[in-house]
Amino acid sequence: MLPRRMGLRDLLRPRYDGAFAATIGGIVDRIRDRAPPLALSPHERLDGRTVLVTGANRGLGLAITVDLVRRGAHVVMACRSGIPEVMDVVRREAGAGAGTVEAVGLDLGDLASIERMVAELAEDGVALDAVVLNAGIVPREARRTKHGLDESFQVNFLSNVLLVRRLLERGVIARGPGARAGDDPDARDPGQDHRLPRIVFVSSESHRSAPPIDFSRLGSFRAWSMREAVQEYGATKLLAETWSHELANRLRGEVAVHTVCPGAVNTDIAREAPSWAKPALGATMKAFFKDPALAAKPIVYLVGARAIEGDTGLYVHVTRVKDRAAQARDAELGKRLWDASERLLASTGHALGRSDEGGEGR
Ligand SMILES: NC(=O)c1ccc[n+]([C@@H]2O[C@H](COP(=O)([O-])OP(=O)(O)OC[C@H]3O[C@@H](n4cnc5c(N)ncnc54)[C@H](OP(=O)(O)O)[C@@H]3O)[C@@H](O)[C@H]2O)c1
Repeated sequence: MLPRRMGLRDLLRPRYDGAFAATIGGIVDRIRDRAPPLALSPHERLDGRTVLVTGANRGLGLAITVDLVRRGAHVVMACRSGIPEVMDVVRREAGAGAGTVEAVGLDLGDLASIERMVAELAEDGVALDAVVLNAGIVPREARRTKHGLDESFQVNFLSNVLLVRRLLERGVIARGPGARAGDDPDARDPGQDHRLPRIVFVSSESHRSAPPIDFSRLGSFRAWSMREAVQEYGATKLLAETWSHELANRLRGEVAVHTVCPGAVNTDIAREAPSWAKPALGATMKAFFKDPALAAKPIVYLVGARAIEGDTGLYVHVTRVKDRAAQARDAELGKRLWDASERLLASTGHALGRSDEGGEGR
């Protein structure tokens, strides 16, 4: 018997509150929406654009990097592992007529590593046109980082707050010159590039299945186990969605901020699944999940599409722009999370500057 008031439509709606449900959800999602992903045309170039991609050494991040470099972009690959070999992989796959790459070390489990990387980029005078916050994890159980925080909370959410805020503070993401709200586009110097920088979070539909944000335990460690792994993952993506929605509002007219769920992708995301489940899971992912090169397309679209110039706060789910979950659009929750994450970072010795402070030279 179906529970009362639950119809067929509800049954077919993808759920992401457990590993099995999430796998089936990803497959159902893929079968239901057969439209091509949002994508740049094959010939659209990104010459002269500098893009930082986190988790660029494998999976989706590597595919995003190859696509961007093929289009002529310069990509700063921010990786925890795989440097320098992965740069050769990108050069080989991108082929002739491609852009360039460099790699920098970044461990999102270590806040000092973020500070070091941003300082290095600032000292080198790097000016980013876009940042893709791609790195992410689904740990098999709760683990504590050196800061005493839950690792998935830190890697999937809080570290990105520090990274983005520092990149803005140090002017490594230069807020769009001459492109602020109220600017008259017709009065601009046509010789200057007036495109706003873009921040793109790689998120997940699983944020919809997350329980409401519990501010009383934000950042505090709780020993959860494998059964809760996917739900905890969804909770970190809800935090990222809520915070980035607030970020988009705060940076309106200066930096565009978008989020994207790439759908189910055949990567190493389930590498911590129990060994008994890996053969079946691996075969299912290979058969039904998307190739990373295909999954990268909507992300590259958000980085480079001229069609969305002037937009901010878009949430893309593979083929189309959607509303993110209502919780993530709640302005009160967004402000609360903004302040709470600032306080949390300050308590770890990584206080942030004022959010309306621009980078050097503003
Ligand atoms: N695959 C899917 O079906 C799917 C669906 C929706 C959303 N996503 C999202 O897509 C993004 C990319 O995941 P993926 O599927 O490509 O998984 P993946 O193959 O496991 O790649 C994850 C990447 O994140 C990096 N990373 C992990 N922990 C890090 C840390 N502490 N510091 C810096 N980098 C770290 C990894 O680096 P190492 O190689 O050093 O571990 C790797 O480059 C994630 O945000 C994920 O949530 C994936």
